[in-house]
Amino acid sequence: MSDLVKKSRELMFNQFKKNGAPAWELTEIAVAKGKQLANRYRADEELVLASLYLAHTIFSGTIRDRIQKNHEKLSAKFVKKYLDNWKVPDEKKQVILNAIEAHHDKVLCRSKVAEVMKNAEGFKFLTLKGALVYLHDLGGRGLPYDLAVSEVIRKMQQKLSYLSLPEQKKEGKRNFASIMKVLSKSDI
Ligand SMILES: [Fe+2]
Repeated sequence: MSDLVKKSRELMFNQFKKNGAPAWELTEIAVAKGKQLANRYRADEELVLASLYLAHTIFSGTIRDRIQKNHEKLSAKFVKKYLDNWKVPDEKKQVILNAIEAHHDKVLCRSKVAEVMKNAEGFKFLTLKGALVYLHDLGGRGLPYDLAVSEVIRKMQQKLSYLSLPEQKKEGKRNFASIMKVLSKSDI
């Protein structure tokens, strides 16, 4: 693990302890997918992973509150001073900040790193483990089961709409269909 990735992971872990969200396992699912996709699409792995760790440094456990809705901008602003302190070269810094800001499709991805990062991020929820971790997390926050299931589905649909790499779109759709089977079985 490079120094930048290590520092980004530590920063995110500290922020996760402070904010209580997103569930730590979700971040690690995205990072594992990020490693796979960086290799597959020949994107700079260090920048993909650093962006994945840093994209939710400012976050909240309250669904769709002001912080959640603006977490890309808020996280980018928050991490900028760390990237400066860590003396990350300007070019790399711009790539990381754009990836963070672009991962919910509100601004354009200006690099392959940003696109790979956004696609990897989608699989946080588009894997059975990710969907179940989120469901479990929502239960821990006191959300009734039916509402938690609806929220998991909303999140999966949102992430599916962000996938842009053709192969990942296919995989995301396949995963979505099989997770939906599991969720619909739950009412017997
Ligand atoms: Fe996000």
